Order: sequence, then C-alpha cells, then structure tokens
Amino acid sequence: MKKLIYMDTENRGFSVSRKSEKIKEIYLDNAATTKVDERVLKEMEKYHSEYYGNASSIHDKGEEAKSGLEKARKIIANSINASPEEIVFTSGGTESNNLAIKGIAFSNQNKKHIITTKIEHDCVLNACKWLEKQGWKITYLEVNSEGFVDVEQLKREINENTALVSIIHGNNEIGTVQDLESIGKICREKNILFHTDACQSYTKENLDVKKQNLDLVTLNAHKIHGPKGVGALYIRNGIKITPLAHGGGQEKGKRGGTENVPGVVGFAKAVEIASEKEVGKMKKLRDKIINGIEKIRGAKLNGSREKRLCNNINFVFKGIEGEAIVGYLNEHRICCSTGSACSSKSLEPSHVLLAIGLKPEEAHGSLRISLSKYTTKKEVEKLLKVLPMIIKKLRSISPFGGN
Ligand SMILES: Cc1ncc(COP(=O)(O)O)c(C=O)c1O
Repeated sequence: MKKLIYMDTENRGFSVSRKSEKIKEIYLDNAATTKVDERVLKEMEKYHSEYYGNASSIHDKGEEAKSGLEKARKIIANSINASPEEIVFTSGGTESNNLAIKGIAFSNQNKKHIITTKIEHDCVLNACKWLEKQGWKITYLEVNSEGFVDVEQLKREINENTALVSIIHGNNEIGTVQDLESIGKICREKNILFHTDACQSYTKENLDVKKQNLDLVTLNAHKIHGPKGVGALYIRNGIKITPLAHGGGQEKGKRGGTENVPGVVGFAKAVEIASEKEVGKMKKLRDKIINGIEKIRGAKLNGSREKRLCNNINFVFKGIEGEAIVGYLNEHRICCSTGSACSSKSLEPSHVLLAIGLKPEEAHGSLRISLSKYTTKKEVEKLLKVLPMIIKKLRSISPFGGN
C-alpha cells in the first residue's frame, strides 16, 4: 500500500485515529480511476475464457473475437457520432495522446508548430516537450483564472506552420470543461487539425465529432468503470497519421499489436451502460460538497462553477498542505487526492493550479475530490462532517495558522 506522507502530529498533542478497520472505504478519487462495473467484468470474462481467439486469425475462434472487437468499435464510434473505421484501439489515454500528437507531427514534417495549453495532462505536455527537443515549436496557451482557454489568443497563435491544436476537454484536476465547438470552428476555418483529450469528459459531457469539428479524440476506459490499459483514438477519415507501434497491420496499420479484445469489449460495455441519470446524480452531490466546503474558512474553489465536470471538486485551503489533508482523510478511510494521480507523488506544485494563477504556496494546499456513479449521499455527508474537523486540526498546528 502506498504510504501517505503527512504531518506527524503524534508529538503535537493529537492524532486522527482510524475509527474501525471494518468501516468500508469511501472512494472519492474517481478522476484517478474507477471501480470496474460488474456488467463490464462479466462481458470481459467471456472474452477471456470463451471467445479467446486472436482477432486476426481466420478460423472461427478468431472470428468470434473479431466480431466482439468490431461490435465494440461500432458502440464507441456511435457514442461520439463517428464511423467505426475512424476508431483505433490503444492501450489507454497516454498512448492515444502520444499517437495523436507525435503521429500528426511526423506526418506533417513541413509544418513544425503545435498549439496546446498549459493545463494539459502530463502525457500531452511531455509528448510536446519531447517534440520540442526534436525541433518542433510548441505554443502553450494561457488560461484564465477559471481554466478557460482564450480563443482570441488561439486565433493569434495559429500560423502557416501550425499542424495541430490539442486542447483538453474536461480538465483532470480542476474539472473545467472547454467549449470545444467554438475552438473546433476556429481550427476548421483555418484548416488546422484539432485534437482533444476527452479522458475525463467521456460519457459525462456531450462529445460530437461533427458538431464540434473534431479531427482527433482521445478516450479511455478506466475513468468510466471500464478496465485499465484500454483506450481509443478517433482519427477522422482521410487524416494521415504516422503509427508509433509498427506491427502486423492491426487497426488498419495505425497501431500494431494483437488487440486487447476483452479490454475493448469491456470498454464498449462501460460506454453502453453509462447514463445521463448518473451524471445528474453526480452533479447534485458535487454541488452539495462544494456548498458544504465553501463554508470552511479559507477554502477556495478552483475551476469554473458552471462549466465543470459533474464529478469534480477541487479546493485550496489556505495555510495547509494538501498532502496532510489527504493523509488524514485516509485515516477515516476516505480516498481523495491532491491533484492528478500521475503527479500526486511529485513535490512540485500542480502546473494546472499555477496556470490558473495560484501562488506555489497556495497550490500546495489543494484537495481534489472526484465522484462516481457509486458515490452516495451518506458518503458525502460523512466527508462533510470529517473534513472541517481535519482542516480545523491542521490549522491549529500549522506554523502559518491558515490565516
Ligand atoms: C485527462 C487525462 N488524459 C490522459 C490520461 C491518461 O490515461 P491512461 O491512464 O489511460 O493512460 C488521464 C488519466 O490519468 C487523464 O485524466
């Protein structure tokens, strides 16, 4: 089990003890990953034990697997108003983002400029940084205090060398949801390819590749109660992309390697069972948490209130370390995080919080709470009871006093 680092309070007169080992955990870190739905597991199980063939084999066992793969492709394509042949299965969001960015860069060697933002997931930022070292020019767009991209800056930065614009849809840390339609319109008018990383927004926000003028879309399964290690990249028909994994011609030559059929089938099942009702339920609980936490002195909501992912809550607490809060919540068997799962072990303040204008010392005091369809009102009430106590205790021992 990962050891949480938090302030040692043993010598300072109090400790928050684990109430009972029997208390079931309250999992509020669904932006990091989600519990796999039983129906997804059941579907996947069939493709492990019964339809286990290689989708490239021409015998019946291969055909069974191929049929599952193609049915899944159709479901995922339909969900974003695309055609099945425009969906390429990958090992997840990281691979899809790398394929989109590097694959388009390699296919457009005469246009070595890419525009992205300062609030992307690390896999986008690091793919861009790597390209910078190979001679590409990358523009990192600023965002405002709520995390929105300035479309006027985007218009100004596009030039004759721009090959791609890559902008995250729903932010994984602060939950801000960008207006893809207006960004897509600008890109299409200027004839620039537009990619979005929709890992956090998929099945929660509307995604329509035609209406939003999207050319490439990154999706993954493990944020929506599907399995880990599975994702997809939508690549609009006619777009040339250089594969990163050369192999036996799978996925129409765009991504070599035997397809993870059980994973893909589980991914499609997760998409199929996702519902608007769940989104509505999460929104209600999200707002209850936001309203409750706002009553705590020195608590400030990060991101937009209106255009926000249904399951995201992100606060900073003046004068307190986010890690300490996460540690104490963990003592109460409540799982939250300080920022994105990938960077939560890093001591650096979040690049997203810095980009929305927080000072490094403020950014260290952040707490991300992310809900799922399984989150209950009772769990939310427990969080709202425990959190103010933790903040109060931490404030009383903070050298800054939180004032
Ligand atoms: C916005 C975003 N993009 C990309 C990823 C990476 O996806 P994966 O874990 O499937 O590689 C994540 C997950 O952490 C994410 O939240």
